Formats: sequence, structure tokens, C-alpha cells
Amino acid sequence: MTPASSLLRTRPSAFLDDVLTGLARVQKSIPPKYFYDEHGSRLFEQITQTPEYYVTRTELDILRGFAPEIAMLCRGRTVLVEFGSGNSAKARIFLNAAPWIDTYAPCDISAEFIAEEALALARDLPRVVTLPVVADFASRIALPEVIRSRQSAALFLGSTIGNYRPDEAVSLLAKFATTLGRDALLFVGVDLLKDTAVLERAYDDAAGVTAAFNLNLLRRINRELGADFDLDQFTHRAIFNPLESRIEMHLVSRRRQHVHIGSRRFAFSSGETIHTENSYKYTVSSFEELARDAGWRPLQAWTDAAHRFCVQGLRRA
Ligand code: TRP
Repeated sequence: MTPASSLLRTRPSAFLDDVLTGLARVQKSIPPKYFYDEHGSRLFEQITQTPEYYVTRTELDILRGFAPEIAMLCRGRTVLVEFGSGNSAKARIFLNAAPWIDTYAPCDISAEFIAEEALALARDLPRVVTLPVVADFASRIALPEVIRSRQSAALFLGSTIGNYRPDEAVSLLAKFATTLGRDALLFVGVDLLKDTAVLERAYDDAAGVTAAFNLNLLRRINRELGADFDLDQFTHRAIFNPLESRIEMHLVSRRRQHVHIGSRRFAFSSGETIHTENSYKYTVSSFEELARDAGWRPLQAWTDAAHRFCVQGLRRA
């Protein structure tokens, strides 16, 4: 019998597996979840502060402006769940507006990040008990019984829903419905369809932060998987695909070249791309339709004056 340890040693890492599979496709691709190593997470924080990336700022403005109204819909609910919480800045706005909420359950894969945020929240908002749920919200998660047994409101912000294909987005929202149980409310941050130039600039800022974020994926593959990507021979591209209603991010090969990962060799023609991310853009009504398909009833959509972004309130149908 093979000892378990040798199985572990010989089994390729999921990262290596995913990269080799993605680069073998006709349209080369790498799953976006690998963006977020330490440096990548830091770069992402910087993206949210570039003048071109209106998403984070606009969503915060909407939450601040409509917090009392949004909170009133949640009267009587005592638990706030947040999927993919990251930093708790947006939840704080909500918690401050809804003093009857006494429990906050941030759900994120990064245990470290959650723990840090929980500590800061305990200091700033002592009335709220933070119950971190360290889990990948995309897989079926079971909330602790203390949460499940109570009526909850949930947040899924940052246009993270836009990083899923519409069919995947429907499954994900349906999963949230199951996870949260009867009568749940869900508030989703959705980026709206708009002028192509504005969209493309948001994903290709003048200072090059988003470019660095995209290229960091190759740096990580070099470091962790021993590949030999020449970072100077790839460039960042963000392009709006109107047929799919999505921004696509690619890494473009500047010339004909080969890249090695272990014993594997990948050929790139000049101009060939690796597709690294999608960010789907909706109208208020196209998103409401998607939410209905997932078993949610649209309650209200809050938008900014320029109609750049919306926070869509949903109740379980
Ligand atoms: N969900 C956000 C968006 O699509 C954030 C995001 C995910 C992002 N991947 C990105 C932003 C890559 C910039 C670049 O806008």
C-alpha cells in the first residue's frame, strides 16, 4: 500500500494543476483566484484607490447614503452575514445604521484577514459579536446553528458577483439562499453597464496598478511553480466584450516565445493572450432577472446619481 504521505508528495498541487490545464487550452487562461497572494492582495487594495476604479468608492457612497433605508428593511433581524468580507468597512456602515443587529458573521477564505478585522470591530463596536466563518463561500457552507436559527440579512458586495459567468452567478445566489435559510435578505453590489471607455479605464488605470496586479500572476507562477515567464514580454490588456457584457482581462504576449513549467513547454504566438479575469456588467433589470432565476425576489435597487453602480436588495422568494 502507498503511504498517504507519498501520495501527498507526488500529487501535483491544485495551483500547478490549474495552471497547466489552463495554459493547455486553445484560449489560454488562468483562474483569477490565484491573483490574491500577499502582494496581489496589496495591489488589489491599491486598485480600489485609483481614480479610475469607481467601483469601491461608488458602492461606499451608496451604502452611506441609503444606510438608514436599507437598515429599515432589516428591522428585527439580529444577524448580519457577509460573503467574501475582506475588510469590514462596508459592514460597519450597515452595523452602525442597524443597532438591533448584534451578531456579524464574516465569511471569507482568509482566516488571518478575518481575525484581524474581528479584533478591530470588537474594539470599535463592542455591542456586536463577530463570529467568523472561515470558508470558501462558493462551496456549500453550513453556517453555525446560532446563526442559522435566527433571521439574517446578508451582504455580497464589491461586484464580486460580476466575476462569475451568469449561469455560475445563478448557482451561487441559489446556494446563498440555501445557506441563509427562510426569509433571508441579501444585498448584492452590482456594477452597471456603462460607457466602454469608462469601463476599460477602470480596469487599466494610468498609474499601472491593475497592470501590475495582472502581471503579478506570472510572477507568482514563476516563484511558486518554478516557471520562466519573462514579465517584460507580456502586457496587460482590459477590453470590454459587448456580446458577453463583460470586461475581460488578458496578459498579451509581446512576441513569439516559449515558457517552461517543469517539463512542460508552452508556445505563445505574438499577440496571443492568457485570459485572467471577467467582470460582468448588468443593467438593474438584467440583474433582477438573474436574481429571480436564483430564487430571490428583488425588493429595491439603490444607485448613485450617475447610475454607475447599484446595491440590489433581495428577499428569498
Ligand atoms: N469584483 C471586482 C470587479 O470585478 C474586483 C475585481 C476582481 C477586480 N478582479 C479584478 C478589479 C481585477 C480589478 C482587476 O471589479
